[in-house]
Amino acid sequence: MHGEVTVSGSKNATLPIMAAALLTEEPCVIRRVPNLSDTRFMARILESLGAKTKFELGTLMVHARKIRGYADYELVRKMRGSICITGPLLGRLKQARVSLPGGCVIGARPINLHLKGFEALGAKIKIEGGYIDATAKPLAGTAMFLGGRAGSTVLGTANVMMAATLAEGVTVIESAACEPEVVDLAKFLTAMGAKISGAGSPTVTITGVEQLHGAEHEVIPDRIEAATFAIAAAATNGEVTLKGARADHSRAVLDKLKETGVSVQPRGGDLIIRRGKKLNSADVTTLPYPGFPTDVQAQMMSLLALAPGISIITERIFESRFMHVSELARLGADIQIEGPSAIVKGGQPLSGAPVMASDLRASAALVIAGLAAKGATQVNRIYHLDRGYEGMDAKLRNLGARIQRVKET
Ligand code: EPZ
Repeated sequence: MHGEVTVSGSKNATLPIMAAALLTEEPCVIRRVPNLSDTRFMARILESLGAKTKFELGTLMVHARKIRGYADYELVRKMRGSICITGPLLGRLKQARVSLPGGCVIGARPINLHLKGFEALGAKIKIEGGYIDATAKPLAGTAMFLGGRAGSTVLGTANVMMAATLAEGVTVIESAACEPEVVDLAKFLTAMGAKISGAGSPTVTITGVEQLHGAEHEVIPDRIEAATFAIAAAATNGEVTLKGARADHSRAVLDKLKETGVSVQPRGGDLIIRRGKKLNSADVTTLPYPGFPTDVQAQMMSLLALAPGISIITERIFESRFMHVSELARLGADIQIEGPSAIVKGGQPLSGAPVMASDLRASAALVIAGLAAKGATQVNRIYHLDRGYEGMDAKLRNLGARIQRVKET
């Protein structure tokens, strides 16, 4: 693959930022919003709460003048990320009745830390009929530790941070998630009049205010999409320029790519990715930011399946995020799972086959492996892909990939 690709806005920054618009009666304008099934879905959830939304050419207007605090199971179950409306509803209305999110193939994904944070702020939480029933009169700022089994929680930090913006007094979140998406949310909340310091560090301090006002914000570029295209370029022995990719958001990934022999060259606000003479094997362990992101684990596995030698990939965030292993094996990859690790014996030539996507990032990994495999690969259930990648097939075609959307048989 050769050429340039523009990185879209970040899905995982956009979703909590859309929810944050519920914290004010005034209109909010959010730019560089990716056109994805997940963002369109979040807009539907906001409308079900009474907000008005308008989406045009990457710009989303949300006006939550009058809202209710009840979010239905039928909506929430379809997208786990929607749990982050709970904090804003609790912050603004001092009550929220939100369905518990359903199951997820990559892990149990409990929300105990979200609820722990709300209770620390004085909320009374009841779980009844599959719903979270939260009331707080008033929400009171306090210090809390939000670390869990796998370390910090991204949406848990976002949820509690949003509720705390309208709490009385000061809230200190210890073991807060440091992801760039949390920093971007804090930037938007600050533009709305919130008082937040320390976002991006494990200690975030929020001084509650009476009310928030409308604001405008441009979402950060999607570091996971950028990493996915960088890996696709390396897997196809190509040279691709990632327009608008933020190297400072992807140090762990770029560092690992260099280790595998891929050259990463910043130029202006872009990144040029070029595969070196040969690919090297490498070990990868997923960790909370700034560690190697779990959302790039599957794509990296596709690349390491091409690299001669043994690579060990250890998943420390989600307990069952190896659904792509058996599908990569269908393309001829040699990968054994041992507990939290996958042992990749790389360098086997891959050959095309029909495969099944199980989740968003697994589907991206299968597309990358299909691009590197001999012959044709058919990736089924690509609705997973459309949840998190804006026009991925068109972007890949622009880079010279032979890829087409076909009706599933
Ligand atoms: C966010 O999910 C992302 N989703 C995920 O991206 C990403 O994989 C994840 O962060 C980790 O980076 C969005 O931002 C919409 P967590 P989140 O709470 O916030 C455990 C993608 O592909 N945990 O940081 O739900 C949890 O089970 C998606 O775009 C608790 O135990 O993830 C996991 O093991 C997939 N209790 C770990 O913490 C809690 O209350 C990290 O989860 C919350 C989490």
